[in-house]
Parts: sequence; structure tokens; C-alpha cells
Amino acid sequence: MQSHHTEHLYKILVIGDLGVGKTSIIKRYVHQNFSPHYRATIGVDFALKVLSWDSDTVVRLQLWDIAGQERFGNMTRVYYREAVGAFIVFDVTRPATFEAVTKWKEDLDSKLTLSNGFPVSTVLLANKCDQGKDGFRNNLTKMDQFCKEHGFVGWFETSAKSFSVLLDVMLDCKACSIPRYQDEASKCLVKHIIASETDLLQSVEPDVVKPQMNSSKIPSCSACLKF
Ligand code: GTP
Ligand code: MG
Repeated sequence: MQSHHTEHLYKILVIGDLGVGKTSIIKRYVHQNFSPHYRATIGVDFALKVLSWDSDTVVRLQLWDIAGQERFGNMTRVYYREAVGAFIVFDVTRPATFEAVTKWKEDLDSKLTLSNGFPVSTVLLANKCDQGKDGFRNNLTKMDQFCKEHGFVGWFETSAKSFSVLLDVMLDCKACSIPRYQDEASKCLVKHIIASETDLLQSVEPDVVKPQMNSSKIPSCSACLKF
């Protein structure tokens, strides 16, 4: 029997204030390494992460690492174009970078929407958790509420420096005892992107029959129903 092989290519933005660790998170995720030296990104950098989503599906994430200094400039509009998902990153040791998160989200939503007008799926990353979360503890407890209010599909504590975080959770495979890295944050993002695509396909109107839309019905994301 012929197997159906599907490939998806998704453009994903990685945005957030200067020095919060966007480039480092991508390096950790794609190349499994970390450098303590800071070299500010100029404009935008690119990286590709290939995920075996399931036995029939390959997902290619084209990660757009946008310089923090591009903040809310004209260029961001060009960079955002045709993206289907985003990570917004802040640094848990610098509260001002968390305050900027809502500004990044508003900027993103004002410049980029899916064809049905919905915002693109966005995951919030609380980075540098290896440095302690003392200055941030109060906010971390309120994160679920914050994400709900500001339209994030999820949030994760991350550390590009350390392995023991949710971006790269080390799991021992029960069957073979080989350690594996599980990329929880990007899985969360990808499942929401796939669900948005499904929602978009289902919302395409057929040629002849025009279904009556019930305006009192609140649209729901199928990722939240299925997963
Ligand atoms: P711009 O490109 O200027 O927007 O910065 P960026 O967000 O890409 O930050 P970058 O990844 O360059 O990291 C800035 C600094 O923070 C570097 O010195 C990194 O080594 C450090 N850093 C990044 N992530 C972590 C982390 O999780 N833990 C620790 N301790 N340091 C980190
Ligand atoms: Mg950078």
C-alpha cells in the first residue's frame, strides 16, 4: 500500500527585546550548542528545524530570528509577511523585557493575520530560567491568565544555556534507554498552526451553497478541542 507523505513548511518568527536570548534559543534548538558571548543580530537570521511530526508528516520550521533592535520598525512588517506562527521571548531576569511582550504581541497582531483575520499562533518563552526567577516569581504564577488575556496559545520556561528546560526536555526512552530531546514549546506551536490550517480549510465557502453563519457562535480553535 502506498503511504501518504505530507510535508509542511512553516515560517515562524522569533521576536522579543534586545538580548533576551532569541538567537541562543534557536542555536540550542537547531544546533544543540550555546555561547555565553553576546553578538547582536543585525536585521534577521534564518535557521531551519526539521521535525518528524508523525509517521507520515514532516514539518519544516523556517525560524526567522529577528533582531531585538528592529523593534516596531518598518522592517518588521516585511519580516512578518506570510509567517504562520511566532515565539515571543523575554528574559526572566529583566522585568522590562516582560513588559515589552504585550507591545511585541500588539505589533505582531496589527501587522499580521491569517486569511480569516485571526491572529497567528504565538507561544511565549520565559528565557534564562537557569539564572533564577526571583525577580519574576510573582508574574510566573499569573502566566496562564496573562496568556489567556493576550492571546498566547501557551508559554514555557526555557534556558538556552541549560538542558533542563521545557524547550529541550531530556527524556529517557523507556524502550531503548537512549536520551532524547523533546521540544515541547515548538510542538505546542506546531499543533496550533496545524489546527488553524484545518480551521481555515473548513471555513472556505463552497461555490454554490452558502452556509448561514450563526453570529452568536464564538469561533474556537480546534487545537484546544483536540489536544
Ligand atoms: P538580539 O539579537 O540583540 O535581539 O539578542 P538575542 O535576543 O538574540 O539574544 P542572544 O541570543 O544573542 O543572547 C544575549 C545574551 O544572553 C548572550 O550573552 C547569551 O549568551 C545570553 N543568554 C541567552 N540565553 C540565555 C540563557 O538561557 N541563560 C543564560 N544564562 N544566558 C543566556
Ligand atoms: Mg539575536
